[in-house]
Amino acid sequence: MSRSVRLGTGVFLLFATTAATQGFHPQIPKAWDDREVASFEVSLADPSRSPRYPSAAEYYALEVLPIYRGYPIYVPGKEAPGYFESLKQKEPEIIFDAAKLRTEEDWIRAGELVFDAPVSFGSRETANIIKPEFLREVPLHTTRDGVIPYIQWVIRKKGVVELGLQSCGFCHTRVLPDGTVVKGAQGDFPGEQRRAWVGRHAPDSPARARDLRRAESFLYAAPWVTNPEELYSTTQADMIRRSGAMQPGVFGRQGASSACPVHIPSLIGVKDLKYLDATGLTRHRTSADLIRYAIVNRGEAQGMQGLARFGDFDPRSLLPADRKTQRYSDEQLYALALFLYSLEPPRNPNRFDEAARRGQRVFEQQGCAGCHPPPLYTNNKLTPAPGFRVTEQLRRTADILEISVGTDAALAIRTRRGTGFYKVPSLRGVWYRNAFGHSGQAETLEEWFDPARLGEDYVPKGFHLGPGPIKGHEFGIKLPADDRNALIAFLKTL
Ligand code: HEC
Ligand code: HEC
Repeated sequence: MSRSVRLGTGVFLLFATTAATQGFHPQIPKAWDDREVASFEVSLADPSRSPRYPSAAEYYALEVLPIYRGYPIYVPGKEAPGYFESLKQKEPEIIFDAAKLRTEEDWIRAGELVFDAPVSFGSRETANIIKPEFLREVPLHTTRDGVIPYIQWVIRKKGVVELGLQSCGFCHTRVLPDGTVVKGAQGDFPGEQRRAWVGRHAPDSPARARDLRRAESFLYAAPWVTNPEELYSTTQADMIRRSGAMQPGVFGRQGASSACPVHIPSLIGVKDLKYLDATGLTRHRTSADLIRYAIVNRGEAQGMQGLARFGDFDPRSLLPADRKTQRYSDEQLYALALFLYSLEPPRNPNRFDEAARRGQRVFEQQGCAGCHPPPLYTNNKLTPAPGFRVTEQLRRTADILEISVGTDAALAIRTRRGTGFYKVPSLRGVWYRNAFGHSGQAETLEEWFDPARLGEDYVPKGFHLGPGPIKGHEFGIKLPADDRNALIAFLKTL
């Protein structure tokens, strides 16, 4: 990395140029390359339904998202008088400009701008997130100054201040109890509760029900599975029930289902992972694969996942014809990948004490390290979901541990994100996370290791649509209480 010293303007320029040419050479991959796109994902459980994406020619014909300067959004009562009015006086300002980036640090900071850049926009009037009646019902974390860090005001046209949503940071930013904002951590924005709140406060009409059905089936439908209508809600009441059942940290991500949503992983440490997503859908061979992941999963169904075909099923047929999709530029994506690779965990307040030392021994004795070996605390392998038959072809092309941990199979088998597998997740950073298990059924580690969760009439504290066991992964679950507590103390130091 090069850092320049200011020695007077002329010298500074010369020095900066030399340092940049010698020190850092951005290697910007052509992100959407037809050949690479054909192989960067693991096939779906039914391989004939694996997504077929638009070609590179179609992709590069999309308009590039300009990234404008964003301004903080405050909760009611914390905004300085005149603040919002002052934003109306500001000129729109494009802040991502690859031509101005010199050092690796410049690229990383520019990547942070991409991470925080909203990709969908609304008005202040419709911004329920900052309405007192919303905040009374849906608790929202903020910084000590009252800033809501998941969203921004954006000025794309002078005098028009818009609410910017659906950046990467919308779902991948967490506020710790002391108000520290951790970018890249498992997000804690209550996005699904917001959806449920909007549903509760909107009039229920046949037209709305039709729109909802269309929107949900666009996101979640997989008509080739048995009972496909269970994957999405068809009435407002059902939507409110399903979204309301998801806690912060869990999302009905596009291609999953509101009946089996997905917990948000922490992106801190992602550079060491060989597979992305709970089902290991995306291979992570190089940074270009991470970039393709971002292209596919951008915003809510605004990425290529929203433009893919699955055999003879084309979800786009459910969309209004005038819907416009944008893309990131290859430079923006390269910067974004550098930013994600640079993420560091927050300082861990849990000390490696006597209990943790004992817990480490339990971890070793229980064979956890067979699947979660240090230092990554994952073996980076895929394990088959119950009932999934591993083919020879898969054995040759993926890293598979042919032991099923027995967790609920629906996400892996029945959805557009489902490969038939669950990957072995890393246990690093569990101390700043919630929502364990692929759908976040267990809210805490204590619950994940509580034998009561296997009971038929158990009511999970995390995501659930009714009483029932949190199935599978029975490792460490029958331990005496003090060993279990020690194990958890150890895990919280990772
Ligand atoms: C609407 C919420 C949402 C938004 C917006 C979002 N993500 Fe995610 N992200 C998720 C969820 C949920 C998962 C888990 C998906 C799964 O396991 O199938 C996830 C998973 C990931 C993963 C996989 C990590 C791993 O360890 O498996 C990466 C990488 C990622 N997101 C990056 C991004 C980037 C980059 C952006 C912006 C371009 C973004 N996400 C936008 C919710 C979101
Ligand atoms: C045979 C491999 C295997 C063994 C052995 C194993 N795990 Fe896991 N572990 C997994 C898989 C696979 C998952 C993800 C399951 C899912 O989401 O459906 C997982 C999930 C977890 C989770 C939840 C993480 C998250 O992000 O939701 C924790 C915590 C965990 N394991 C801890 C342990 C501990 C502690 C032990 C030993 C007592 C252990 N595991 C033994 C494979 C294993």
